[in-house]
Amino acid sequence: MLFIWFFLFSYMITTSTSVDTLSMNQSLQDGETLVSARGIIEVGFFSPENSTRRYLGIWYTNVSPFTVVWVANRNTPLESKSGVLKLNEKGILVLLNGSNNTIWSSNIASKAGNNPIAHLLDSGNFVVKNEQETNNFLWQSFDEIGDTMIPGMKLGWNLEIGLERCISSWKSANDPAEGKYTLKLDRKGYPQVVILKGSEIKVRIGPWNGQSWAGYPVTSDKSLQKFVFNEKEVYYEFELLDSSDFNIFILTPSGTGSGIFWTSETSTRQVLTTEEEDQCENYAFCGENSICNYDGNHPICECLRGYVPKSPDQWKMSFWVNGCVPRNKSSCNNSYTDGFLKYSHMKWPDTSSSWFSKTMNLDECQISCLKNCSCTAYANLDIRDGGSGCLLWFNTLVDLRNFSQLGQDFYIRVPASELGAASRIYNKHYKSKLRKEDIDLPTFDLSVLVNATENFSTENKLGEGGFGPVYKGTLRDEKELAVKRLSKKSGQGLDEFKNEVGLIAKLQHRNLVKLLGCCIEGEEKMLIYEYMPNQSLDYFVFDETKRKFLDWHKRFNIISGIARGLLYLHQDSRLRIIHRDIKTSNILLDANLDPKISDFGLARSFLGDQVEANTKKIAGTYGYISPEYAARGYFSPKSDVFSYGVIVLEIVSGKKNREFSDPEHYNNLLGHAWRLWTEERALELLDDVLGDQCVPTEVTRCIQVGLLCVQQRPEDRPDMSSVVLILNGDKYLSPKPKVPGFYTETNVTSEANSSSENHKLCSVNELSITMLDAR
Ligand SMILES: *[C@@H]1O[C@H](CO)[C@@H](O)[C@H](O)[C@H]1NC(C)=O
Ligand SMILES: *[C@@H]1O[C@H](CO)[C@@H](O)[C@H](O)[C@H]1NC(C)=O
Ligand SMILES: *[C@@H]1O[C@H](CO)[C@@H](O)[C@H](O)[C@H]1NC(C)=O
Ligand SMILES: *[C@@H]1O[C@H](CO)[C@@H](O)[C@H](O)[C@H]1NC(C)=O
Ligand SMILES: *[C@@H]1O[C@H](CO)[C@@H](O)[C@H](O)[C@H]1NC(C)=O
Ligand SMILES: *[C@@H]1O[C@H](CO)[C@@H](O)[C@H](O)[C@H]1NC(C)=O
Ligand SMILES: *[C@@H]1O[C@H](CO)[C@@H](O)[C@H](O)[C@H]1NC(C)=O
Ligand SMILES: *[C@@H]1O[C@H](CO)[C@@H](O)[C@H](O)[C@H]1NC(C)=O
Ligand SMILES: *[C@@H]1O[C@H](CO)[C@@H](O)[C@H](O)[C@H]1NC(C)=O
Ligand SMILES: *[C@@H]1O[C@H](CO)[C@@H](O)[C@H](O)[C@H]1NC(C)=O
Ligand SMILES: *[C@@H]1O[C@H](CO)[C@@H](O)[C@H](O)[C@H]1NC(C)=O
Ligand SMILES: *[C@@H]1O[C@H](CO)[C@@H](O)[C@H](O)[C@H]1NC(C)=O
Repeated sequence: MLFIWFFLFSYMITTSTSVDTLSMNQSLQDGETLVSARGIIEVGFFSPENSTRRYLGIWYTNVSPFTVVWVANRNTPLESKSGVLKLNEKGILVLLNGSNNTIWSSNIASKAGNNPIAHLLDSGNFVVKNEQETNNFLWQSFDEIGDTMIPGMKLGWNLEIGLERCISSWKSANDPAEGKYTLKLDRKGYPQVVILKGSEIKVRIGPWNGQSWAGYPVTSDKSLQKFVFNEKEVYYEFELLDSSDFNIFILTPSGTGSGIFWTSETSTRQVLTTEEEDQCENYAFCGENSICNYDGNHPICECLRGYVPKSPDQWKMSFWVNGCVPRNKSSCNNSYTDGFLKYSHMKWPDTSSSWFSKTMNLDECQISCLKNCSCTAYANLDIRDGGSGCLLWFNTLVDLRNFSQLGQDFYIRVPASELGAASRIYNKHYKSKLRKEDIDLPTFDLSVLVNATENFSTENKLGEGGFGPVYKGTLRDEKELAVKRLSKKSGQGLDEFKNEVGLIAKLQHRNLVKLLGCCIEGEEKMLIYEYMPNQSLDYFVFDETKRKFLDWHKRFNIISGIARGLLYLHQDSRLRIIHRDIKTSNILLDANLDPKISDFGLARSFLGDQVEANTKKIAGTYGYISPEYAARGYFSPKSDVFSYGVIVLEIVSGKKNREFSDPEHYNNLLGHAWRLWTEERALELLDDVLGDQCVPTEVTRCIQVGLLCVQQRPEDRPDMSSVVLILNGDKYLSPKPKVPGFYTETNVTSEANSSSENHKLCSVNELSITMLDAR
């Protein structure tokens, strides 16, 4: 007897002090525990306060009060201390009562290997695995969350195996059985966390806004919060940054959330979130389409702007549950007159009837909303870094509240009649008031542009384009724009304007300047483009000092970039477009000095076979227009190719075609280049400032491309796809150039050098010209 007693005693000592695993056929009796390696966590049998029933549970050691975080047999308590936990030969944990009945099991038909063991980890996860493996769990307590979420648990869904992990409250403080409340990630619409009582939402913690839950917009520097959402999983998880901190979240039997915190030094729990009486937390407290406002004492409901109480008499008596309805119905068949009002510091409405996109930006989001009659609001999906993504709400907006500082922005849709001048919002300064015909493009308000350009002041003037001046504009959020204000006396009528806008809006390429929007108000017609900080190519390449910034590598990059942009216009874009005014001042440079083609004012879409067309108007710029275009008004993509060739030779040489005249032969730049080429001295064309840092093969290739492009006969000139290939070094495609067009055209040097008046003439010629009726 003494021997047996001694044996049992020593066995109990070892298990309760240092053992963190249970091997096959081993058992854990009531009174014994497994302790995790660092002594943080224990698994064993316990009774809740004021109860004699026994449960198998996991708790934190050394924390007061006693803190159980997981219970195995929560719905099937043991009536005595006769319970035994065993790991059977299939790798299943079974909990037996005094008469050897299984009252709980880990219940996974697992493919256990030879040697399953149960292991209690310091994280609080009790796992079954094959002894050799570390991370491949056959079963884990983290998959069966109780009323407590601890760091490392994943709240949400594993979509591949259809597993949902949610939190469910205890029935009462001394009964761990499943209570009335659950906290789960609801996947309807954009996923959001809700606390349910039965099947009814009690509190909506909200969707993830990129940095926190929309309904709890607080971030902690003690923990790292993570929301993962992809095809395989949707879950929320948090992790503590300091390993001596402890933080757990409990869903109490009364359905409120309670955050609890302690450190390894104090070991005494502190409750972080108290049960404050804030009725705005109650789901849909204010009914539909209204905002709950909590002043610290009382909730007050307020209809969204453009909405009125559904039951005004009840509303006056603070009976808010019927909510609000739109004051004026939007006539959605004319929906483009609707606008949006911005709200800030809000808890986003219920996202169960929402749609989302991770890639759209706010402007695209607004347009999507306008296009769908049932869309009532939109916002950025992720509020970090200025916002990204798109979240759209449909039909009624429910469960909104107001935060004093934190919270999210969102935009509600209202009919035009609600957009008073004062309350009009510009969604980053413009409203999308799309017209019928329909340019699928944001429309800026004139007043916004007047403000941004300081009433089109001369200081903000960037230059004079073909159809009017271009101004720099700065919006209130410091975003910069270029505003092309079309002069009223320009040849461009409303039709051409709409044509231009309609075309450009559809073009997207990294070597094209992006059109951001337009403005049509009264006599005023304007185009709004992205702002290019480094101005245009002519500003660099023909300037004594600035040309030095363009080393050969940059110049080659510019030559290739323009070619790709033109190729896109000619062949790849849906519309196939001839630019008709390609010149150095229409090539803008971005912050990185990458080229972007601008000013599509003359562009026309042309149909497949119709490679040549004849128009009443002839337009272009002297020095860049092709012979057939100037003489007969015929244009084709090959006319752009000609202009491109001129630009290439200008970039290589740093000289203007029109102003250049070689001392011996009075040739223009094209003639000069041609002569050097035939004399096999092509490299002499190279701009002096480039010195010997260039790549001779690339320079020769560029000159050859330039000369091929400016050949007299359009059919001899390569198309832009061949140009791109030749530039890339495809020799097969590069024949010998023939005589260029216009090569002894003028004797400009003497003119240009003679008087300032002629200088002026030159610069006038720099402008695009429009001649009516060339025939
Ligand atoms: C565990 O028990 C089963 C059934 O009693 C037995 O077949 C098996 O050999 C035991 N395994 C070990 C490692 O004791
Ligand atoms: C346990 O019983 C005591 C005395 O009746 C009571 O004060 C305490 O609140 C009870 N605790 C729980 C968790 O029910
Ligand atoms: C064990 O559980 C079974 C089934 O629930 C029950 O009938 C039996 O009375 C229990 N035995 C003990 C000792 O609690
Ligand atoms: C329960 O099973 C154990 C081990 O198989 C056995 O020793 C014990 O007698 C059984 N108890 C009852 C009440 O059947
Ligand atoms: C909008 O509502 C106001 C007030 O109810 C009304 O005066 C106005 O005529 C309405 N406008 C439209 C366009 O229905
Ligand atoms: C909406 O469309 C219907 C049918 O096309 C038309 O009868 C009605 O007048 C339109 N309403 C408005 C406000 O445009
Ligand atoms: C508007 O959006 C709703 C919800 O996504 C969708 O069911 C409906 O088909 C959409 N309507 C149109 C016209 O796209
Ligand atoms: C939000 O709350 C603040 C402060 O309580 C209040 O001034 C503001 O009007 C509220 N906004 C809305 C839209 O309810
Ligand atoms: C533009 O608007 C801002 C803010 O309302 C104002 O301070 C500024 O004076 C305005 N500028 C012009 C040129 O109207
Ligand atoms: C802008 O300038 C025009 C003409 O110079 C002037 O009539 C107008 O009042 C100015 N507008 C503003 C907002 O300053
Ligand atoms: C081009 O613009 C960027 C951004 O404004 C500027 O930092 C850079 O210095 C400019 N480059 C040159 C060569 O002026
Ligand atoms: C060009 O100008 C020079 C000097 O003014 C003159 O001698 C020459 O004949 C002119 N050539 C042509 C082609 O006009």
